[in-house]
Order: sequence, then structure tokens, then C-alpha cells
Amino acid sequence: CGIVGYIGHREAYPVVLKGLQRLEYRGYDSAGVAIFDGNEINLCKTKGKVADLALKVKNEISTHGTLAIGHTRWATHGIPNDINSHPHFSNSGNLVIIHNGIIENYGTLKKELIKRGYIFTSDTDTEVLVNLIEDVMKNEKVKLGKAVQIALNQVVGAYAIVVFDKNKPNELVVAKLGSPLAIGIGEDEFFVASDASPFIEFTNNAIYLEDEEMAVIRRNKEVKIRKIKDDSLVEPYIQELQLNLEQIEKGGFDHFMLKEIYEQPSVIKDTYRGRLLADQGLIKLGGLEDHIQKFVNADRIIIIGCGTSWHAGLVAEYIFEDLARIPVEVEYASEFRYRNPIITEKDVVIAISQSGETADTLAAIKLAKSKGAFVYGVCNVVGSTISRETHSGSYTHAGPEIGVASTKAFTTQITVLTLIALKLASVKGTISYRDYNIYLQELELIPEKVEKALLSNEHIKTVGEVFKNARNFLYLGRGYNFPVALEGALKLKEISYIHAEGYPAAEMKHGPIALIDEEMPVVVIAVNSNHYDKVVSNIQEIKSRKGVIIAIVSEGDTTVKEMADYVIEVPNTPESLTPLITTIPLQLLSYHIAVMLNRNVDQPRNLAKSVTVE
Ligand code: G6P
Repeated sequence: CGIVGYIGHREAYPVVLKGLQRLEYRGYDSAGVAIFDGNEINLCKTKGKVADLALKVKNEISTHGTLAIGHTRWATHGIPNDINSHPHFSNSGNLVIIHNGIIENYGTLKKELIKRGYIFTSDTDTEVLVNLIEDVMKNEKVKLGKAVQIALNQVVGAYAIVVFDKNKPNELVVAKLGSPLAIGIGEDEFFVASDASPFIEFTNNAIYLEDEEMAVIRRNKEVKIRKIKDDSLVEPYIQELQLNLEQIEKGGFDHFMLKEIYEQPSVIKDTYRGRLLADQGLIKLGGLEDHIQKFVNADRIIIIGCGTSWHAGLVAEYIFEDLARIPVEVEYASEFRYRNPIITEKDVVIAISQSGETADTLAAIKLAKSKGAFVYGVCNVVGSTISRETHSGSYTHAGPEIGVASTKAFTTQITVLTLIALKLASVKGTISYRDYNIYLQELELIPEKVEKALLSNEHIKTVGEVFKNARNFLYLGRGYNFPVALEGALKLKEISYIHAEGYPAAEMKHGPIALIDEEMPVVVIAVNSNHYDKVVSNIQEIKSRKGVIIAIVSEGDTTVKEMADYVIEVPNTPESLTPLITTIPLQLLSYHIAVMLNRNVDQPRNLAKSVTVE
């Protein structure tokens, strides 16, 4: 979910509405706003998107007022409908709340409140929280800030909340545990949001609340931060933001996803700039330098992540083992955290996360830390929770990724992981001086080659046209390109809603081969590699069962070209770097198919960009 709030001297609604649009990638099954006009709280909410909300607001409520809060929802409790949308009122109608997260013990709290006469109109945990706060105010005779604090001490779960009390019209109370919350500090005005994008055109100064902190924000005055548990005051740490507005707008492309696909040459370069010094034969990674011995002496590296980040981890497994000869295990964060894993002080954990907020990844990090492991983060969002929770790390410099389907985050993650692997290989001496230098030079050529791969865009579109009505796709790859096959299939599923499966090409004969017929397109990554001949045999197996083949081949290929029904060429590069190139046509293929099917490419149904709930 995404939350936004404003308190200051401007009309608040336009600020909040625009903010919600920027945050819509975080959740978009429903949206709502509450605007305080000096006397009344005007509330409007709806199932659907922020655009639907804007229409409804126009028809139903007055938007005047200098204080407002808004919410976009990704349902956890209760189906997406108008009633379950936020903001939620308390029973008296004095308090109004927006909430991102989950209150786990809401059932017990709700029962207790019902006993005391509270009535609930929605199925949400949030309505329980706002009434709990109201109940505390009544019983303990305390003001809003204190009541929020007392209530939160009874809550188990995760939250970022903003609460307003119409009897305290110059105040917003916010609190955070587990879900992100940033406060923008303007001149005589304050903004609150799940990330800084809603207020970036108003101010560059922001405070990121830490877990278990709350703040009382007073109009024209101050932000007072306290620890929820012991009430101690916290000195606000104001950060200067580096985001700019252009970075979060579409820049002439039809969709954020397409823009982000096309940004890959430049963001891959941004990611290795200053770190890869090929002419000096050097790799410099600030976060790694002081901890390199931890990696060198590690028994193994455990990589954790979710979704696309997990796929980047799988690619890294090949690179680390191949080049640096360190055993690697790659785990879904959500599985790892719950299966009592064996972790010791000799393990190094690498946590990969674009957003730096994914709840499962965060919990896995905490678990690994509690067992004494050294945890290294690979995140894209500067200042995100995971980047702060890890012992050290390297940022990917992909810039804000807005499209829900991850593209440039993936390739920049692989770029960082490749740099780490090469650095370790050179320190450990598991790579020859010559090969090491070849890799450095080849890495520098990647942006150009990605650029070249993008030139097939129109051709890929025509291939997409042929297969847009297929009901199933199979994606096959071997070695380094097996995870790429998984990622290609995930992209297609996410945005086109066509079922797709990624598989190791050789494993196909143990199952998926039964699915192959004239109807089923099989995307095979068949670029130059150690496995090329084996992949050729796999293609023959498919052909002899009348399968239809779309092959990703290296420039100059002749063998596969003769066998495949459609081929997409990509530039040559050493096998370990091929995922950075072979991913590109697969991103474009799913993009075009989704557009042709009229799907909402940037905000596919049911998904959220940043999953801050379990
Ligand atoms: C969500 C997104 C995916 C993403 C995954 C992990 O499911 O829809 O695109 O790969 O979370 O996110 P992270 O921010 O941790 O990389």
C-alpha cells in the first residue's frame, strides 16, 4: 500500500492526489482520501485506481482544506471494495486513519472492542486500530499522540500509519514499524509518504522514521519524534534527497516499463561507474573493501531474495561458484525464514532487494543476523530499510523503478553481483590475471551491447503479434541462462497473464515435454556457450514433437537459425555475462504481448511493487 499526507498552507488535495498517483505502483486495488476543511473531515474512497478516486471526489465531496491524507491499497484483509478502502473513521467520526501493513492480533483486539460497544463496518484490521486509539483516548483521558503510542504498544504486526483527530486540527500523528514512512520538511509545511516521490517537487529534506518510532507533526511548527516503547525523544535526522522529478516521470515512453527497459544501457553504466576501473585492472566497491576477508573466509554464501531479485540471486550463484569458487545457496526469503535454517558465523548472506522493503527478505535478514552471519545488502532504494538493516552493502544505481514488473533492477543487480564475484575471484586468486582483465573490459562493453539488443524491438513486436493468443509458453535455458528463462517466464506471467513456465532445457524431457504441441511456443535461449550443442539437441527434441520455437541466438549463429521458427539475435559476450543481454529480448517480448492484449502493463492486476507484508 501507499500512504500520503499533507499539513501546511496549500490546498492539500492536489498534493495528496498527485502523491497517490506516484505511489500507485505500491498498490492499486482501491484508493481514498480524507480532507479536513477546518470543520469537517470530507472522506471519499473507492475500489479501483487513483483515477477512479479523482472522478468520485469531483462528483461527491468538497476538496477545500489544507490538511489531507490519502491511501492506495493492496488488499491484505478483506476484499478490495469501497468499504474496505482507507481512510477509516473511528466510531465517533473524530479520528481518521490510513495504514500500510498488517495488524496480526486484530481479531482479539476487535472482539474486545465489540464487547465495549464498538461497531465495525469493514473487514479491515485498520478499522480496529483506529477504534483502539479512540478507546484509549476515552479511557485514559489522553490526547491523540499519547493514545496512538499506548495503542501501538498493544499491537502485534507491521504498520506505517497517519492519524488525524479533528479536535486537534493542527496535528498529524504518524508511526512506523516494518513499513516505510518518510516525512518531507518544507517551509511551514510537512508531507508524509511511503517514499519520497510524492513530495520531491516541494522539498529535498526528509526524515525517514525508524522502526518503533512515532512523530507528532505540528502545523507551522515542528516534528517531534519519540520511541513508541519507552517514550524517549529522538533527535530528528534530516536527509538531503537526491531524487529528481524527471526520474520518476515517463519521459515520452508509453509505459514506465518500456522506459525502464530502455534505460538499461545507462543504468548498468551508472551501476559500475567509479567501481569498475578497467584500465587499472581494479574493482572498487566501498561496501565490500572492509569486509572482503569475511567473504574470502566464508564457508558459503547464502543469497536471499524474492521474485525477480531471487532470479538475480540464481544468476549470481553461477558467477560466484564459477569465478570465485565459493559455494552458494540461493533461497526464497519466505522459505528460508521459516525453516529453521542452519546458519553460522562463517556464513555470508547476500540479501537482494530492489525496494529494500520486502517484508520476507527483511525478516530473513534479521534471522541471519541473529545467528551471527554477516549480511550484505544489494538494494536499489537508498536509505531503504534493508539497506539500513544489513551490515554493509552495495547499491544498484538503477534509479526509481516504477513499473511493477522489474526490469532494470534485475540487470543492475546482476551487474553489482558480477563485480563482487570478480573482486573476490581476484583476491582469492581463483581467476587468471588475463581472464580477470578480459571480464573487466567485457563488462564495459555491456551497455553498448544492451543498446544493440534493444534494436530488435520492432522485430520482437512482430514475434509477439504471432503468439499473443497462446495460452501457455515454455522458456528454456541452461547454465547461466536457466535463471534468465525463469525471469522471462515470470515477466510474461506478471504482465500478460499468460501462463508461462521457465525450465532448465535438459530437464524438459522429464516432464514439460509432455506439454509440447503445435500450440505451445517454446522460447529457447540458445546463445554461444559451453552448452550450445546440448541446447541444439534440446531444440531438436522440441521440433520432433512439432513444438514452435522462438530462439534467442548469438549474432552470426547458423545452426539454430535453421531449426527455429523465429530467431532474435543478440550480441556476443562471454558466457558469464550473457544474462545481461539475453534478458533484454525477453522483457520486450512480454511487454509487447501485454500491450497487444490491452493489459495494464505498469500495474498488473493483483501485484504490488513493494510487498511490505508477509
Ligand atoms: C514484488 C514485485 C516483484 C519483485 C519482488 C521482490 O513481488 O512485484 O517485481 O521482484 O516483489 O521485490 P524487491 O523489492 O525485494 O526486489
